[in-house]
Amino acid sequence: MTAPRTITSDDLSLLPPVEDDAALVAELMGLPADAGRPAEIVRAWREHWEEHGYGTWIISGPAGRAVGFVGLRAHTDFIRVTIRVVDGEGGDELASRALRLVVAHALEWLPELPLRLRVAPEDVGTRFVAESAGMEHAPDLDHVTGEDEWLVLELPWVRVTDRIPARAREAMLRMWVRVNDAGGAVGFLPGASEDEVAAVLDGYGERLERGSATLVALNSPGGDLLGFGFVARPSGATVAHTANLERIMTDPDRRGTNHGALLMAGLHRAARDAGVEVATLDYRGGTGLGEFYTRYGYTEVGRVPGAVRVGPDDDRDGVIMARSL
Ligand SMILES: CC(C)(COP(=O)(O)OP(=O)(O)OC[C@H]1O[C@@H](n2cnc3c(N)ncnc32)[C@H](O)[C@@H]1OP(=O)(O)O)[C@@H](O)C(=O)NCCC(=O)NCCS
Repeated sequence: MTAPRTITSDDLSLLPPVEDDAALVAELMGLPADAGRPAEIVRAWREHWEEHGYGTWIISGPAGRAVGFVGLRAHTDFIRVTIRVVDGEGGDELASRALRLVVAHALEWLPELPLRLRVAPEDVGTRFVAESAGMEHAPDLDHVTGEDEWLVLELPWVRVTDRIPARAREAMLRMWVRVNDAGGAVGFLPGASEDEVAAVLDGYGERLERGSATLVALNSPGGDLLGFGFVARPSGATVAHTANLERIMTDPDRRGTNHGALLMAGLHRAARDAGVEVATLDYRGGTGLGEFYTRYGYTEVGRVPGAVRVGPDDDRDGVIMARSL
């Protein structure tokens, strides 16, 4: 399947540029609408799209007006991200939501190259926007060009594996216990011991070896585990094109920085690469997770009343969701 050219959410649309977008570029550059440079920039953006199948997206706000852009430009061994929005349109908040969508799209669909954004040290606004989209300062990449000093932020990356390396097992186990202790709906009663969790984790290890599951881990540029989940494949020829996404979790200390979106993007990419066309998942009712998964294209397809016993007087529905990939 080829990457979609447009990205949409409840209130934003991101579209490839058209010639008329020169007016927006002129506004962002503080130039007259008929200046030549903005038209050249838009032409270059369109050529990049032709050559690479991705590039700069124009952000169209709730009223359908073009309010800025998120640019992706191919370099030899990385993809550079840039972002600009017009003043007075909700500024950083809008930029942040647009960037969150684009980086998740990139992780799901674009070439597997590091995604980097560079900011001047004093540009705390852009840095904040990039960090809220999940990007992280990678000090080794900081550099100077001419007089300009740059800090480089990089997007987390996804590792898809069919085994759990020993060091990763420790980090996964620690995260799983912490997520459970923090109230996460990840298969255990509150306070489950490390041994209980380890038994289930090792069960997944065996499924990975048998080839009936794949591990998808989200890692920071610095090498920290940020989250993980499994693409579990059912046995049987009639359901070979389906998978259930299981144990989806992110680091509780870094919630709200787009890691959930990035992890979903990685899971979908891995599933699609494995030939999966229909993805399902389930969650326990009363957690609000239906809303979270709806954002990623899932709809509720079934509900088993009282199927999950979280405590003596606390039965929750088991809710099943599905989407096509
Ligand atoms: C669900 C989970 C993976 C999301 O990860 P995250 O790192 O918080 O995700 P993001 O930063 O990408 O997304 C956060 C957005 O999702 C929403 N969200 C996250 N968890 C939610 C929940 N339980 N209910 C409703 N919305 C939720 C947040 O409100 C936030 O919305 P905003 O962007 O409008 O502010 C994470 O909360 C988690 O690990 N939860 C515990 C484990 C769990 O229950 N997993 C589900 C197993 S079925």
